[in-house]
Amino acid sequence: MNAAAERVVAIDGPGGVGKTTVSRGVARALGYQSLDTGAFYRAAALLMRFHRVDPEDEAAVLAVLSGADLDYRDGAMLVEGVDVSTAIRSESITAASSRLARLPGLRLVLVRRQRAWVAARGHRAVVEGRDIGTVVFPDARVKIYLDAPPAVRARRRTGETSTTFREVATQLGRRDRLDSTRATSPLAPAQDAVAIDTRALTADQVIARVLELCRGRGIDPANRPPEGSYRARD
Ligand code: DC
Repeated sequence: MNAAAERVVAIDGPGGVGKTTVSRGVARALGYQSLDTGAFYRAAALLMRFHRVDPEDEAAVLAVLSGADLDYRDGAMLVEGVDVSTAIRSESITAASSRLARLPGLRLVLVRRQRAWVAARGHRAVVEGRDIGTVVFPDARVKIYLDAPPAVRARRRTGETSTTFREVATQLGRRDRLDSTRATSPLAPAQDAVAIDTRALTADQVIARVLELCRGRGIDPANRPPEGSYRARD
């Protein structure tokens, strides 16, 4: 049991459910930092594309990843100091990140970096992803699993890029399948997670509900984070 890690607020759920908006809102209210762990998988996919590494070749993937400088600052993903926040949102990187996320060795490396990022901030962090409550921070006192039907998530995502609703729905379906059927750390609610169906709720309503749970479990907005910066490197 890691006592400091209990302060972490873990938010899991499928793509397009609103995890980032909710995590940022909750973090702001708590004086916490928010970490989008999906951005690490996306950055890894971008790196492999850049280095022309076959994503099925795990040894080659790990060789590139182990020396890479990945950082997450103020909501931006940096690779070797370059802000790649826009580049990692392309359709092809989105699809590649889900495939790459199946590799157990890659997950170990990224999870280690995510834990270090959070530890460097005194564990005052809202961390979003697919395996936060189950694997990355199983000791978190507040674990949330956000969910909404695929059509609702696809509608929310449509308009973020130039793709149509039908295309977005197809891609989300494919990612849902990959994320929930992979052998290592599949997308699944932790046993002790509180599930919130967001289909009929606004982001503010979801944030309010999460904050209520935080207060009930002793995580209070009065806790202010220490200043600090950290570079994730193995
Ligand atoms: O949250 P996102 O859509 O940006 O994540 C991109 C991909 O990364 C997603 O398809 C699955 C993977 N991922 C993961 O396996 N574990 C996480 N904690 C976060 C993301």
